[in-house]
Amino acid sequence: MTRAIRVRTASTDYRVLCGRGVAARAGRLVRRLGPATGIFILTSPRVWRRCGRQLARTFPGAPVIRFDDAERAKRLATVEHVCRRLVRAGADRGAILVAVGGGVVGDLAGFTAASYLRGVRVVQVPTTLVAQVDAAIGGKTGVNLPEGKNLVGAFWQPALVLADPALLGSLPERDYRAGLYEIIKCAVIADPALFGFLDRRLDALLRRDTGALEWATARAAAVKARIVSRDEREADRRRILNFGHTAGHALEAATGYRRFRHGEAVAWGMLVALALALRLGRIRGAEAARIAELIRRVGAVPRLPAIPRARFLRALAADKKSRGGRLHFVLPRRVGAVEIRNDVTAAMVYDALEALRRG
Ligand SMILES: NC(=O)c1ccc[n+]([C@@H]2O[C@H](COP(=O)([O-])OP(=O)(O)OC[C@H]3O[C@@H](n4cnc5c(N)ncnc54)[C@H](O)[C@@H]3O)[C@@H](O)[C@H]2O)c1
Ligand SMILES: [Zn+2]
Repeated sequence: MTRAIRVRTASTDYRVLCGRGVAARAGRLVRRLGPATGIFILTSPRVWRRCGRQLARTFPGAPVIRFDDAERAKRLATVEHVCRRLVRAGADRGAILVAVGGGVVGDLAGFTAASYLRGVRVVQVPTTLVAQVDAAIGGKTGVNLPEGKNLVGAFWQPALVLADPALLGSLPERDYRAGLYEIIKCAVIADPALFGFLDRRLDALLRRDTGALEWATARAAAVKARIVSRDEREADRRRILNFGHTAGHALEAATGYRRFRHGEAVAWGMLVALALALRLGRIRGAEAARIAELIRRVGAVPRLPAIPRARFLRALAADKKSRGGRLHFVLPRRVGAVEIRNDVTAAMVYDALEALRRG
């Protein structure tokens, strides 16, 4: 069954279509967006090997522009390369770019769409779980600098998002689980029914059971869509999406983006937030235990390494979520409700992480 989720933003409205079969119908759905002078597929060699056959059929004759989707290739040089390929392939202002891939492809293609000829339409066809429930929705696009992640970018909303669970079959196990942590995040911040479903059907989800996956993906995508719909820029409500991400991003940065998948770092980050909420008396013990238990049931995450205090605090301070030196820290109150606090200090975050590391 296809679920249609509407995203309303200040600049535009668009739909996120979730369900088995939407990828096979992608060509028709994209053509319905209105006249286009050409359709151009932006993807990576690896993704296209896995998912290309299904998509090529629905976009007959569309040029396929491939670029490396390693995180280190998510940079301006790749944007230039893709733009030049677009020029040579004849893409004009009436073009539609179709991004087929994970968050790296989506962020880079989205930013390319925002800047090429000062802006062309982009359709997101996310092929990782993280991208289906998170990266492809909300209009944040961008690339990294050697100095840090996502430091150059733009808000550029897609014209359509097509999230098909059938594309996830070939996803490596760790990347798949990383997406499950982001789904847990969505449940904890805003959707108790989704949390209950994850609790009951986690085994089915770990087996990639299509029915379970379809339901959970659509629910999580709806949480993200609802939250980014209220305010397009990173303002108040959108901040609750950062649950698990303040400590998570710092952990990723402090370990050179090599040790953890993003979702795995977020899993640790959520455990840190739970520990802090407990310490501050903001959540009941049984409720915190229930959330921690679900996170741990998803499976083994790489262990926390010993990180020098100064390095971790530097990474924490560099995160965009700290304003004027103060952290805006998202703490869980109970399943479905979180709060943003500014009395969580960097030292408290480090200590909570160290306590988790020591077990
Ligand atoms: N814009 C946003 O709001 C937002 C939100 C979350 C994450 N992100 C960004 O997304 C990126 C991470 O994205 P990701 O987690 O989707 O990972 P990814 O794009 O790095 O992909 C992970 C790996 O899976 C491969 N892959 C993708 N789809 C596949 C498939 N169907 N079968 C087999 N292999 C496949 C890719 O080639 C890659 O090697 C980061 O750069 C992050 O900053 C952006
Ligand atoms: Zn995330």
